[in-house]
Amino acid sequence: MLDAFRLDGRTALVTGASRGIGLGIAQSFAAAGAAVVLVARDRARLDEAASRIGSPRVWTLPCDLSRAEEVPQTFRRAAAAAGGIDILVNNAGAILRGPAQTIEAEGLHRLIDLHLTATYRLSCEFAQERIASGKPGAIVNISSILAEIARPGVAAYAMTKAGLRQLTRALAVEWAPHGIRVNAVAPGFTRTELTRSQWTDPTLEAAVKARTPLGRWAEPQDIAQAVLFLASPAAAFITGQTLIVDGGLTAAMGGIP
Ligand SMILES: NC(=O)c1ccc[n+]([C@@H]2O[C@H](COP(=O)([O-])OP(=O)(O)OC[C@H]3O[C@@H](n4cnc5c(N)ncnc54)[C@H](OP(=O)(O)O)[C@@H]3O)[C@@H](O)[C@H]2O)c1
Repeated sequence: MLDAFRLDGRTALVTGASRGIGLGIAQSFAAAGAAVVLVARDRARLDEAASRIGSPRVWTLPCDLSRAEEVPQTFRRAAAAAGGIDILVNNAGAILRGPAQTIEAEGLHRLIDLHLTATYRLSCEFAQERIASGKPGAIVNISSILAEIARPGVAAYAMTKAGLRQLTRALAVEWAPHGIRVNAVAPGFTRTELTRSQWTDPTLEAAVKARTPLGRWAEPQDIAQAVLFLASPAAAFITGQTLIVDGGLTAAMGGIP
């Protein structure tokens, strides 16, 4: 039965895999037997990530996914290098912080392009190839608890992550007849570069712990294990779902006793 959680013989493309949650996902996948293609912008950090994974079946592909025109070509290069992609993880992400009315149009469009347009286009490239070859596939999108609950100062980020949730459902329904499953994982506060300004602030760090029933921040591995499950044959009958991995934060009623 535990074999259903393994990914032997499969190849996964993980975006934003040079650090943080994406690197955790790539490491988990490699440990479960998969070959992995790592995509992010910084080549040096991609190479460093590949050497940390330490498997002979790792490829790196630099790409700025907020540049829509680069996205299809990146997928095709990855599929050609690795001999096909069975699993796609749309994880690359960034955040814009500040009052909603101060966010410039250019930054807003870049965020939409990175979180939504790149996910949409990569997923379509993936599905097209799977459908043409008659092979099944799995997509896991990385959303956020900010698609479920709100806090001030991150409206643009929350909007795009909520869009990912519905894109997950829509594509799941559309591609189920082709054996392509589409799910999402919504992480809570996770200790990475993205949240460095938060977990290095003692007040905020403690506030997150206090409001989280399981009493700590997530580590990238907490998120990666949920992604591994959804990508694996163990989740063969799960599609269109978002799995929230937040230590119970969204289940709890704030700090109200
Ligand atoms: N950390 C959290 O608390 C948390 C909570 C909920 C959801 N998430 C989501 O989890 C995902 C991973 O976040 P993280 O915390 O691991 O962040 P991170 O440590 O900042 O890593 C982000 C990754 O995305 C890549 N990336 C960023 N912009 C890119 C672009 N334009 N093109 C290609 N790659 C790009 C980065 O590499 P380069 O900079 O080299 O491109 C890096 O590999 C994101 O979607 C984030 O929204 C995180």
